[in-house]
Amino acid sequence: MTDKLIIFDTTLRDGEQSPGASMTRDEKLRIARQLERLKVDVIEAGFAASSNGDFECVKAIAEVVKDSTVCSLARANDRDISRAAEALKPAASGRLHLFLATSPLHMEKKLRMTPDQVFEQAKLSVRFARNLMGDIEFSPEDGYRSEPDFLCRVLEAVIKEGATTINVPDTVGYAIPELYGNFIKNLRERIPNSDKAVWSVHCHNDLGMAVANSLAGVKIGGARQVECTINGLGERAGNCSLEEVVMAVKTRKDYFGLELGIDTQHILAASRMVSQTTGFVVQPNKAVVGANAFAHASGIHQDGVLKARDTYEIMRAEDVGWSANKIVLGKLSGRNAFKQRLLELGVAMESEADINNAFAKFKELADRKSEIFDEDILALASDESASHDNEQYGFVSLSQHSETGERPQASVVFTVAGKEVKGESDGNGPVDASLKAIESHVKSGAEMVLYSVNAISGSTESQGEVTVRLQNSGRVVNGVGADPDIVVASAKAYLSALNKLQSKADRVAAQG
Ligand code: KIV
Ligand code: ZN
Repeated sequence: MTDKLIIFDTTLRDGEQSPGASMTRDEKLRIARQLERLKVDVIEAGFAASSNGDFECVKAIAEVVKDSTVCSLARANDRDISRAAEALKPAASGRLHLFLATSPLHMEKKLRMTPDQVFEQAKLSVRFARNLMGDIEFSPEDGYRSEPDFLCRVLEAVIKEGATTINVPDTVGYAIPELYGNFIKNLRERIPNSDKAVWSVHCHNDLGMAVANSLAGVKIGGARQVECTINGLGERAGNCSLEEVVMAVKTRKDYFGLELGIDTQHILAASRMVSQTTGFVVQPNKAVVGANAFAHASGIHQDGVLKARDTYEIMRAEDVGWSANKIVLGKLSGRNAFKQRLLELGVAMESEADINNAFAKFKELADRKSEIFDEDILALASDESASHDNEQYGFVSLSQHSETGERPQASVVFTVAGKEVKGESDGNGPVDASLKAIESHVKSGAEMVLYSVNAISGSTESQGEVTVRLQNSGRVVNGVGADPDIVVASAKAYLSALNKLQSKADRVAAQG
């Protein structure tokens, strides 16, 4: 057993399965690069056989990521496995992740297969995969609710066929830490060849215990890989949160005694990037990455921290990327100061031209807003990278009029495939009027299922970050927009969501 804990990030696969969290290829590439900067050991880039779009994303990530292993999920059948292997061809280090349900409920009701058939398919699929790649992970889906005897039989067989990692998913988030830890310990003790594979935990957060269960799987069960997502993104209540598990293992090294390869200073930038890309806002009191995670409000705490930080702080904010240098940028700040802050925030721009564009936007913003905070810069950087997409719709300008006792009117100019058009409408409020103005031209017919505004840096001087979630023909997408004017931010978010509705192909779900 090694002393290294492997961090397997599945933000781009299991995280993206969360309704509304779907990402474009460029967004996924940007996040994959950030995960590589974070020094994540394995990046699950997608589920290549689920759609052509997913195949292209896995392939594109395999082409650019060189320091992390790139993985694709595949159902345990030859077609899925071949497709995943094909997408992973350019990877410096690739992994095939096969899954097949093993719980009585899933085998009978979902797969309509007998346990013997599942056993055979698991074995043959790993044999097939092993001929294509050396690094094979096998997941018995709904593993935690599977019969231990049957699970031992399947896992022993797939290890014999060459599976190098065995992952035990708590697919529905049913586990309790002590029980899950012992479940894994028991499997490892009973399976004669268990030492030939790395054991992995994969926990969902339905009962709020995904992190605790994963840590118990490590401590009690002896697992040496944790599957997790940035901000705990994922279906229903989400997955195990990467930042929490990593900081728990790092902060309590005295207890876990494990090494991590993660460069924790990039955690905050990764969190902001995922939140801004998906529109899934991070709650202020979220451990490690929430806005209040290191804020000491009570006088007693502030006094203690000023005298000696460790009176109330168990981790250093700087270690996860909160900037220790609180100099706020403004319109007199130069390009070098801006570039330096991008570096401190862990934001890498692809080229000098990208930095110049982002700097021009920074100057524009600084003209309208006296103080530019880290959060503004992260929003701007994210906006700059997103604008590389070949988008159908683009914001140009907006004017609106609202007065007490009168119905607000809005007129929005935007581009459709590069051509400027203008939409006009009234509405219940200026935001409603502006979005109706866009819709009067686009006629998408999409239903809005979520609209939320968040002040990026906490005051009325701040930029508003708007998330719009649209649903159309069974597809759900999020659009995000930021601007000091929340009506403009709303129009940008709406157009961004329309762009995503345009571009996304249907895909097969990993579960169900
Ligand atoms: O939760 C789960 O069971 C999964 C598998 C596909 C690994 O995500
Ligand atoms: Zn999962």
